[in-house]
Amino acid sequence: MSGSPVLLELDQLKTHFHVDGGVVRAVDGVSLTVPAGKTVCVVGESGCGKSITARSVLQLIERPGRIVDGRILWLSDGAGGERIDLAALDPEGEPLRKIRGGEIAMVFQEPMASLSPMYTVGNQLVEAIRVHLSLTEAEAWQRGLELLGHVGIPRPQRTMESYPFQLSGGMCQRVMIAIALSCRPRLLIADEPTTALDVTTQARIIDLLADLQAETSMAMIFITHDLGVVAEIADEVVVMYLGTVVEQGPVDEIFHNPQHPYTRALLASIPRMGRGAKQRLATIPGQVPHPLRRPRGCPFHTRCTEAIPGLCNVQDPPMIELGERRRACCVLHDQELLDRHRSAADAVEVRP
Ligand SMILES: Nc1ncnc2c1ncn2[C@@H]1O[C@H](COP(=O)(O)OP(=O)(O)OP(=O)(O)O)[C@@H](O)[C@H]1O
Ligand code: SF4
Ligand SMILES: [Mg+2]
Repeated sequence: MSGSPVLLELDQLKTHFHVDGGVVRAVDGVSLTVPAGKTVCVVGESGCGKSITARSVLQLIERPGRIVDGRILWLSDGAGGERIDLAALDPEGEPLRKIRGGEIAMVFQEPMASLSPMYTVGNQLVEAIRVHLSLTEAEAWQRGLELLGHVGIPRPQRTMESYPFQLSGGMCQRVMIAIALSCRPRLLIADEPTTALDVTTQARIIDLLADLQAETSMAMIFITHDLGVVAEIADEVVVMYLGTVVEQGPVDEIFHNPQHPYTRALLASIPRMGRGAKQRLATIPGQVPHPLRRPRGCPFHTRCTEAIPGLCNVQDPPMIELGERRRACCVLHDQELLDRHRSAADAVEVRP
């Protein structure tokens, strides 16, 4: 992994929503890197900020949301090896529009909301292709047909002539994936792209993405709740909790040697093979705190079985580098801090 240049770097990114009851810190200081040609999977419970992190990269945040701090450094095609800060670009301006869909493409969590009900699939696919590639309409149509075939749509011609509302959710999702792949992006951000699909189509799409990656060196940020998919496709895993990254590392390390109590709890919640199909999936005990009532100290301390009273509920945990591209944000990895806390606690105990 060390040989691949960093294509995208999020540096202390913060995206907040100012709502009536206060500020929702949906993304609150996220730092992560995506190496060229690699797949980084982002996991974490619902509401932890995965989608808002992904949407922030292309400044696709709806009001009242706003990027309030941090940098989004992108190794752009035309920048001669320089990285440009996407957070500093005008969201409506030409430079960012060129990157959106051209260099970086996105598949959204809600496919229906991303396709226009007014135009046929063919119109939308041809337009997406022609914005970034200089092809005639007929050539773009042909390319659209091929792409629909690639993502497993059985009668591409008929689908090209259909309106999105005439298609199932799964078909729309596949159309979205075809549109995203149409310009051969260098980075694909896929937000739960296969959730609406049946198992066979899901496997087919994952294989397609893997093939494309091998062919074009496309990098991926892949958001999913499915740890089976993570095991299959990830090079690295980023674990998020309440708007922050709590752990990042190579996929094998995350699965076999997790270093953050939240990651351990997530992995323990995977249903084991052989359990009855009707058995409820295990979940992590306790509730994710309300986004407007973020706890002080470590965001996970209200549910952490390893929390240290007087420390975890008071102090922000440090992000500790544990090796190359391996880190965890937990006091258990800061021996100095633990020793200081223990001596302070002992001193209080012996005081008459
Ligand atoms: N328009 C909005 N206004 C206020 N808060 C918002 C808005 N959109 C998202 N949020 C909040 O931002 C936080 C992060 O949301 P996000 O959609 O990124 O979660 P997620 O990790 O993608 O969850 P899921 O797994 O359910 O898709 C949540 O607390 C959510 O309530
Ligand atoms: S900092 Fe404390 S509460 Fe947070 S994960 Fe580590 S041990 Fe648990
Ligand atoms: Mg989401």
